[in-house]
Amino acid sequence: MKSSMHNPHLAPEKYGIMDGISECIVTTISSKGPNAAPMGIIKNSNGIKIRVFKGSKTYGNIMNFPFLAANVVYDPKIYTMTTFSNLERSQFDTIVYEDVEFPVLKDGISWMLFECNNLQKSSQSLVADLIPVKAKLSHIDAVRAPNRGFNSVLEACIHATRYQLTGSQKYLDLMQYHAEIIRKCGGKTEKEALDQLYRFMKTNK
Ligand SMILES: Cc1cc2nc3c(=O)[nH]c(=O)nc-3n(C[C@H](O)[C@H](O)[C@H](O)COP(=O)(O)O)c2cc1C
Repeated sequence: MKSSMHNPHLAPEKYGIMDGISECIVTTISSKGPNAAPMGIIKNSNGIKIRVFKGSKTYGNIMNFPFLAANVVYDPKIYTMTTFSNLERSQFDTIVYEDVEFPVLKDGISWMLFECNNLQKSSQSLVADLIPVKAKLSHIDAVRAPNRGFNSVLEACIHATRYQLTGSQKYLDLMQYHAEIIRKCGGKTEKEALDQLYRFMKTNK
C-alpha cells in the first residue's frame, strides 16, 4: 500500500469519529488474517491519534503493516468478544484500498480506514497519527439514544482486562458496579454481553 496524503474530504465526524475518545472496534491485518479489538481513537484540535499498548495483536499488526480501520458498532457483544478473543472470519468484510485488501466489520455502522503515520514507540506503547484514507457509512438511519447499560458494558470490559492484568479485587468491585447498571438499564444484548464477559473471565483464569 502506498503512503497517502491527507484527504480533506474525509471528515471523521461524518463517520462517527468525534472529538474526545471514540471507542471503536479497530480492525488490522496480519499474515494470519484479520483481527478486531476495542481501541480508543483520540481526536482533538491537533488531529487524530491512537495509543496501542505493547503485547496486543493490534500492536504487532500495526508495526508490520501501518494501517487500521476504526469501525463504529452498537453491538455490545462485539466489545466483549473482541476484548478477550477475535471474531469469526464471517464477521469481517474485505475492502480494497490501492489494490490491497483490508478487513472491516460486516455489521458496523461505519468504518474509516487510516494510515498510521509518525509511529512513536515507548517502553509500554506506540502512539500513531491517523490519516484517513477511505471511509464508508453503511447505516445512515441508525439513530440511538445513549444507553447507560451499553456504556457500562465498555467500562466492565476495561475493568475486566485490568483485573486480568493485576488480579486486584478493586476491578471486580468496579465490574460489579457496572453489572448493576447493565442489569437495570441495558437491553437484552447488553445483558447477554455481561454474561459473556463473566464467562470469558472464568475460562481465561
Ligand atoms: C472500550 C475499550 C477501549 C480500549 N482501548 C484501548 C486502547 O486505546 N489502546 C489499547 O492498547 N488497548 C485498549 N483496550 C484494550 C484492548 O482492547 C485489549 O487489550 C485487547 O485484548 C487487544 O486485543 P488484540 O490482542 O486482539 O489486539 C481497550 C479495551 C476496551 C474494552
